[in-house]
Amino acid sequence: MTTDAQLLAALREHRNGYIAASEVMRRLGLSLAALDGRVADLRELGYQIEVKPHLGCRLLSSPDVLHADDLMARLPANRVVGRDIRVFKETTSTNDVAEKLARDGVKQGVVIFAESQTKGRGRLGRKWESPVGKGLWFSVLLRPQLLPTEATQLTVVGATALARAVQSQTDIAPDIKWPNDLLIGGRKVAGILTEMSAEVDRVNHVIIGIGLDVNQAASDFPPDVRKLATSLKLERGQPVHRGDLAAAILIELERDYARVCRGEFAALADEWESRCTTIGQHVTVLIGERRVQGRAESLDDSGALLLRTEHGRIERIIGGDVTVEKSRP
Ligand code: BTN
Repeated sequence: MTTDAQLLAALREHRNGYIAASEVMRRLGLSLAALDGRVADLRELGYQIEVKPHLGCRLLSSPDVLHADDLMARLPANRVVGRDIRVFKETTSTNDVAEKLARDGVKQGVVIFAESQTKGRGRLGRKWESPVGKGLWFSVLLRPQLLPTEATQLTVVGATALARAVQSQTDIAPDIKWPNDLLIGGRKVAGILTEMSAEVDRVNHVIIGIGLDVNQAASDFPPDVRKLATSLKLERGQPVHRGDLAAAILIELERDYARVCRGEFAALADEWESRCTTIGQHVTVLIGERRVQGRAESLDDSGALLLRTEHGRIERIIGGDVTVEKSRP
């Protein structure tokens, strides 16, 4: 951990009171002058830190910018997800950066955030708008010991962890639309782009790319998506602190990834199904040129959607574009 991360961690531990300067200096191995310097630098970044002669230091507020040290300071020490965090002011696509790191042999768990993306992409080749400072645009590199056919489990990890973190931070429980959209009141608030590199019998790496619309006003969305999309701020009626939210999401991702690594996907799938509004509905799935219709029944062990077609057959769907039919018997 960097000195700034250690300092922020110490301040957060004493969020409701002061931590003595002598205690911080001892823990971080800093002189008083060096501590003053670190506090001044953090204040420059927008952190409000109070220093009182006989009481010590206290963190009053943190700015709504993504700061790798601060994010790492909020995560448990022996984590996988967020073991390393890198924040870019601007990049093409965080999935591209993660892909390059994967090819360079970087360990799993690295997370790439960008304040904005110039070529953010969604599923099925769609563009993903990523305006500066309005949302969370990030990618997680994982190297799971799964078969390629089981990789859909990680999309389920992404959607479930994201839904749980949004709920804990905003009190709004988003619906999951298969495979990996989060909706509030029928409007999309987040999407997940899972990309994989694999051989026939093993996964090399998986990149979970998450786009979450946090603080947009309606006018921040392009006119063609305005009716279909929403943000947490629009739903909640007040802005959401992106740093708090990002840390909460990484903690939930760690929890659900560990469940999959321990072979406990079934429990995760149950939670996913309870949040998924697609289950039980009549849907049409477009898979390239192919169109499949039926009732969404459940997820299978590998995270695929099981559809019962009009002929009573079960179709296993691993990708595609799902539309929920308005009203069916
Ligand atoms: C979708 O709903 O189609 C998936 C959208 C995924 C967007 C995220 S933003 C971070 C990461 N980088 C990208 O280019 N895409 C994903």
